Amino acid sequence: MLLDRRGRALATLRLSVTDRCNLRCTYCMPEAHYTWLEKPHLLSFEELTRVVRLLRVQGLEKVRITGGEPLLRQELPKLVGMLAQSGVPQLALTSNGVLLEKQAEALRAAGLQRLTVSLDTLRPEVFSRLAQRSEIASVLSSLRFVRGLGFQELKLDTVVVRGVNDGELVDLVRFAGEIGAEIRFIEYMDVGGATRWEPGLVVSQAEILEKLRAGYGSAQPLAGRGSAPAERFRLSNGQVVGVVASVTRPFCADCDRLRLTADGQLLLCLYARTGLDLRQLLRSGAGDDEVSGRIAEFWMSRQDQGAVDRTRVRRRSGYVSLKELRADPRLEMHTRGG
Ligand code: GTP
Ligand code: 5AD
Ligand code: SF4
Repeated sequence: MLLDRRGRALATLRLSVTDRCNLRCTYCMPEAHYTWLEKPHLLSFEELTRVVRLLRVQGLEKVRITGGEPLLRQELPKLVGMLAQSGVPQLALTSNGVLLEKQAEALRAAGLQRLTVSLDTLRPEVFSRLAQRSEIASVLSSLRFVRGLGFQELKLDTVVVRGVNDGELVDLVRFAGEIGAEIRFIEYMDVGGATRWEPGLVVSQAEILEKLRAGYGSAQPLAGRGSAPAERFRLSNGQVVGVVASVTRPFCADCDRLRLTADGQLLLCLYARTGLDLRQLLRSGAGDDEVSGRIAEFWMSRQDQGAVDRTRVRRRSGYVSLKELRADPRLEMHTRGG
């Protein structure tokens, strides 16, 4: 087991496989133009599988494939198959659902066990305004389709933005119940490319619970959160919902997550400014012991608690400026895997 300087064990890898996305959600990718990662810099499936195999020996328990939108990466089911073979106990994916109906069966057959789909609204006009693309029909149809495929876990992620979708929480919970999914409401974070973030747009966990209690009577906290970002609550109808409160109740003290950008930058935190250039190391011909040693050293140096540090900032606005994002696209949320 690898421990960082705050005694946190490395257990999860969030693996971003592309920085591209087919939506433009205003809380994540609000700009008209982006600087994309260079294609030859993307780690190959062999390189990714090697990293996961080496981390497995260091105690890695879970890989979550993210993006951008991971389904835009060519031949993703092949990568899933290779990762499943590497022996990592849990293999999960986070997607926006647009392309899921076409790919879900192949992903399941390749060994994908857990699936999280982003769904911020059930209203077509709100979806089109928030995501700047009219794709709600394909997302909803994907969701209805995947429920029959036997995933161990199906979750929905909803970023709550004041004045946009905060009146829909009860409807979204009902929809999650209908498709057998667990829904998680996420506080709008001031991270990476969230250049339009303002404190007033954040709907806090306390307010989210108030709305759920108004709709369902009660929301009882459940024990056993471990290192998960979401705190879970049982509603009076028996349904379980989660709240990811990175802004008002950061959970850095238990964070077990290492991140890898699609071009091979290892990051110790969602808010990290710099990382370890794993691509260069992998492509320099370094042996397994050297690569493992460098990653271990990197994790053991870790002190990051980005979301906690942000709570100490007085006049909070977006974390990085547009100029900095243009100069280093790895600061973007869609590049570091959400
Ligand atoms: P499970 O624990 O397997 O459910 O995974 P997850 O909750 O990490 O998965 P998901 O990708 O659905 O993450 C949900 C959201 O939580 C992300 O999109 C982020 O908004 C937030 N989140 C995930 N990981 C972190 C993290 O390390 N730090 C912070 N501050 N937020 C995170
Ligand atoms: N705040 C919170 N979550 C975000 N995501 C992206 N940007 C933000 C943000 N500013 C996460 C959400 C979303 C996924 C694409 O990435 O979970 O569903
Ligand atoms: Fe982990 Fe950083 Fe998120 Fe805190 S802000 S939970 S340390 S990734």
